[in-house]
Amino acid sequence: MIGINQLSSHQAIDLENMYGAFNYHPLPVVLTRGEGVFLWDVDGNKYYDFLSAYSAVNQGHCHPRIIRALTAQAGELTLTSRAFYNDKLGIAEKFVCEYFGYSRALFMNSGAEADETAIKLARKWGYRVKDIPANEAVIVVAENNFHGRTITIISASTDPVARRDYGPFTPGFEVIPYNDTTALEEALRNPNVCGFLIEPIQGEAGVNVPDDGYLKTSAELCKKYNVLLMMDEIQTGIGRTGKMLACDYENVKPDMLILGKALSGGVLPVSLVLTDDEVMLTLKPGEHGSTYGGNPLACVVSMEALQVILDENLTENAAKMGVIFHERMSNIADTDFVVQVRGKGLLNAIVINDSPESETAWNICLTLRENGLLAKPTHGNIIRFAPPLVITEEQIHACCDIIDKTLNKFNA
Ligand SMILES: Cc1ncc(COP(=O)(O)O)c(C=O)c1O
Repeated sequence: MIGINQLSSHQAIDLENMYGAFNYHPLPVVLTRGEGVFLWDVDGNKYYDFLSAYSAVNQGHCHPRIIRALTAQAGELTLTSRAFYNDKLGIAEKFVCEYFGYSRALFMNSGAEADETAIKLARKWGYRVKDIPANEAVIVVAENNFHGRTITIISASTDPVARRDYGPFTPGFEVIPYNDTTALEEALRNPNVCGFLIEPIQGEAGVNVPDDGYLKTSAELCKKYNVLLMMDEIQTGIGRTGKMLACDYENVKPDMLILGKALSGGVLPVSLVLTDDEVMLTLKPGEHGSTYGGNPLACVVSMEALQVILDENLTENAAKMGVIFHERMSNIADTDFVVQVRGKGLLNAIVINDSPESETAWNICLTLRENGLLAKPTHGNIIRFAPPLVITEEQIHACCDIIDKTLNKFNA
């Protein structure tokens, strides 16, 4: 029997290959420890983390305050289910409502679950408040969206890999191009539309940043046509883009705010839908829920994770470090090899001048790993760079040096 913490990289990878599912294609590095911006593999090699578990670890790995909150609560009470009240849920609901400026909160676990919750709420509101005829509600979504992996959510997806062999799909979605308010207005003219579900920057699609004004105009159109604006800030939210929420760049307050990932600082799955009475009070007992949703452990962890963002000025740091990163990367982008640098704050990507089918971005990530930095390609020729928001100026320069050196090798 192989004990835990005694595996070589090969053993760990072999075990996954032998007993796991091949639903991911991980970079070959086996991690065992994390602290702040750093990760260590089982051979003792140290890396800068430039993915942050897809933006879940904004506060840095194993943040001591979050871990203290976790362990203190773990010794008191972890789960009651919602069959009973617990003494932390109400406090956490009040905390997140005041933090983000909404009147009601519904905690779930994964990001996909929060999106599912938002979709159900929008439909319920559509029937109960907007008077849409039964089973006719439509939710408008954007091409190349990513909202998770459940059947309903992939029913709204345009990614053939995410959908292949998973039909039949859930009806009730209309897909329009991203960053196109003319198409949006056309779609919203349908009186059966109850919601517009959108990412303020499309993270998984490769950090697609829409034109300035897109979110504001979308919000105005939703208001005009009495449609709920449902903002999926699961990847972009909680300081990542240099504002608390990416939609703060345009002073947009969505009707529904969907959060996950960094809500727990990477400690456990916690997600959340925030909205106001008109929407949330359409839900009645038994109509929606989750055994772990709103558990006291998650409540305590998420409050501490959000407080850390404020106390350590991590949003401001993301904005500041983002400017440095963007400037350094833009110099690299003057070459023919990197055709674009895009993003906001510390959610960025570079686009490599090669086809999405090529191995170039993957090979760059392998070399970045050898040079001490972990990043992952998305959609073939795009590499996302999203370090924890606790990164310092000295560290971001060191990372830009690594990326520069690595890309130069490939460019040559
Ligand atoms: C914008 C967005 N929504 C939803 C999700 C799904 O979150 P989870 O993987 O926690 O289900 C993701 C995950 O990457 C995401 O980026």
